[in-house]
Amino acid sequence: MAKVKSKWVCSECGYETAGYLGKCPECGTWGSLVEEVQYSEKLHNAVANEFINTEKPALLKDIKVDESVRVSTNISEFDRVLGGGFVQGSLVLLAGDPGIGKSTITLQTCGELCKSSKKVLYISAEESATQLKLRAERLGICAESLYIYPQTNMENIKSQIEEISPDFVVVDSIQAIYSNNVPSSAGSVSQIRECCNILMHIAKSKNITTIVIGHVTKDGNIAGPKVLEHMVDTVIYFEGDKYKSYRMLRSMKNRFGNTSEVGIFEMNSSGLRCVTNPNELFLNERSQVAAPGSAIIVTNEGTRPLMVEIQALVGMTSYPTPRRVTNGVDISRLHQILAVLEKRVGLNLSKQDVYVNVMGGIEVDEPSADLGIALAVATCARDVVVDSQTVIIGEIGLSGEIHPVNNIERRLNEAVASGFKKAIIPYANDVPSDIKKIEVVKVKRLMDAIAACVSK
Ligand SMILES: Nc1ncnc2c1ncn2[C@@H]1O[C@H](COP(=O)(O)OP(=O)(O)OP(=O)(O)O)[C@@H](O)[C@H]1O
Ligand SMILES: [Mg+2]
Repeated sequence: MAKVKSKWVCSECGYETAGYLGKCPECGTWGSLVEEVQYSEKLHNAVANEFINTEKPALLKDIKVDESVRVSTNISEFDRVLGGGFVQGSLVLLAGDPGIGKSTITLQTCGELCKSSKKVLYISAEESATQLKLRAERLGICAESLYIYPQTNMENIKSQIEEISPDFVVVDSIQAIYSNNVPSSAGSVSQIRECCNILMHIAKSKNITTIVIGHVTKDGNIAGPKVLEHMVDTVIYFEGDKYKSYRMLRSMKNRFGNTSEVGIFEMNSSGLRCVTNPNELFLNERSQVAAPGSAIIVTNEGTRPLMVEIQALVGMTSYPTPRRVTNGVDISRLHQILAVLEKRVGLNLSKQDVYVNVMGGIEVDEPSADLGIALAVATCARDVVVDSQTVIIGEIGLSGEIHPVNNIERRLNEAVASGFKKAIIPYANDVPSDIKKIEVVKVKRLMDAIAACVSK
């Protein structure tokens, strides 16, 4: 019998080595190398040869583009993230935490695609056909051209795709699928890579749009996420606060569109509903009584402005080193803002704990949130209130100056639409003349902004 060889593969980046290493030399992650049995070169070649491309090189000008190359999902928020719909023959990875609603959104999408007379094959590797039927009934989906195939074997899946020849294939999930060509267990890096490779070849050669669901978080805790990300055309993360009902679709990689768009959904008993006016959702959570340490900012998510509340709490510390805790804001950004507040405004926070929270559980990584964070902290420290009808927009420089931000017109229009009366914006930003329903206060320095927004 041939000797069984094994190798060690990094579950983060796919790096391979003959022996165990505590730290991956490629990506520097500790403890990510897992042992895998190596399969023979012959088998590998057999799989590869099956998909040899028969196409010949062609001149770019001669290549014909089909008008119907994008297929809308009829779910506006999903289309927004995809850049207008699925590109035919593309491979899309939908990743997210367990239980976030990946199967729900894909089943709803399948229902919508069937409405536009597309043939869809849903490969369910985790749930039985009955379980899927129950979910479909709960979501009110009665798709006529939706095939459900509970299967985990890649070779069987491949033959069924060939037999049914659908327009769309959903694989739920890639971690539960295995190929006979690879001896390691389902969910290992080699299995995921092999199965995804086969799916990619099917998608490209037969022009079948394939949606692959993966149980991977942004930290890439589970096998193979980075390997998968390189192979697919589009990577979409489904995220959200488990304790809140809304969810966000965020595109991390898109070969056919913008990656800065987010889609916002609300989960209820009949499935995921598109939230077309997210400001209602985030601002509704705002406490009705104005309190020190609260500021409303307008952040930009892709092409859509989002209004969110920043809350800060400042209090005497009981530790030798004061605590700085953030939720939804980068901690180093807060450190920088606190340093500017100390040096340029004279606010001494060296004996104070500072907590900053973005309400609604969303992540704000835009520099235009700086001024809102600074004002939330400053007003809490001085025990004064920012007027509840004021929005704050601006990036803070190290010498306390306020830098201009992009898309000011869109942000101000959003503030007007949400009923705000006053906006504090950077001095260098031009305000279009048609924005009249809001009082615009332009500020050059952080000091001026504090003076302008506080109502005692
Ligand atoms: N009757 C219901 N009412 C409201 N929400 C529900 C209901 N049933 C399920 N859900 C929501 O749907 C979520 C499960 O959705 P789904 O099975 O699509 O997630 P998933 O990401 O595919 O999970 P997994 O990783 O286990 O495959 C639950 O966490 C819950 O929030
Ligand atoms: Mg699922």
